[in-house]
Amino acid sequence: MLRRNTMIPIKSADEIQQMRESCRIAACVLDEITRMVAPGINTYDLDQEGKRLIASFGAHSACFGYRVGSRSYPAYTCLSVNEEVVHGIGSLHRVLREGDIITIDVCVVYRGFVGDNARTVAVGTADPKIIALLRTTEEALFHAIEQAREGNRVGDVSHAVQQYCERRGYSIIRDFVGHGVGRTMHEDPQIPNFGAPGRGDRLHPGMTLAIEPMVALGRPEIEMCEDGWTAVTRDRAPSAHYEHTVLLTDDRPEILTIPKK
Ligand code: MF3
Ligand code: CO
Repeated sequence: MLRRNTMIPIKSADEIQQMRESCRIAACVLDEITRMVAPGINTYDLDQEGKRLIASFGAHSACFGYRVGSRSYPAYTCLSVNEEVVHGIGSLHRVLREGDIITIDVCVVYRGFVGDNARTVAVGTADPKIIALLRTTEEALFHAIEQAREGNRVGDVSHAVQQYCERRGYSIIRDFVGHGVGRTMHEDPQIPNFGAPGRGDRLHPGMTLAIEPMVALGRPEIEMCEDGWTAVTRDRAPSAHYEHTVLLTDDRPEILTIPKK
């Protein structure tokens, strides 16, 4: 079947500059929250610090108030601990302990454009098996980013993540995907973390994509919590999540959430 990807926005030079700015802010906030991670801190305080930091840049959270069905997301960042995969909601009761891992996902809007990035870090010293999971997930992200270029398709990006992680014995969480990002948090295309090379929409310069592998140490199945947002692994084994917003160019992609000095 003939498929055309007319729904994937191509950003103008001006829009690209705006994306650079929103992504720079998202990256700064993520760095700052990462630096606060330590045993004894609770995830409510981390989220409140995220709220404050985002506002300090004149931006706002793309997560707060984000709706799926009737539930709007009640926090400013997503903070997911251990078996929590994504969209964890900061809580006074969730106190970080040595050896935990936490995913910090920061998605901001600045002057009408969205920047989205995430990473998983260890609290103090964690089990080497868990550290290896984090490292592999981040490496998978960078391999996938290398595929985000003219001449390739979405499936090439997806396949890069899947192959890198599954070869090393990890499983790919299939319930959440990466996405185009720009004037809204979720634009076309969807970018699964598994798939066949050479399939899916064609990639072109000017597209801005949030690529975000979610990788489990155990089984890939997830469950949703009562809060309607937090996803946890069904086997309660830890999972990792790294995300960057990238700009496709005529050459190698530009990682907008690793801003140039
Ligand atoms: N980076 C996350 C995503 O792409 C941000 C989600 S915000 C939430 O889905 F409101 F949906 F939690
Ligand atoms: Co995202």
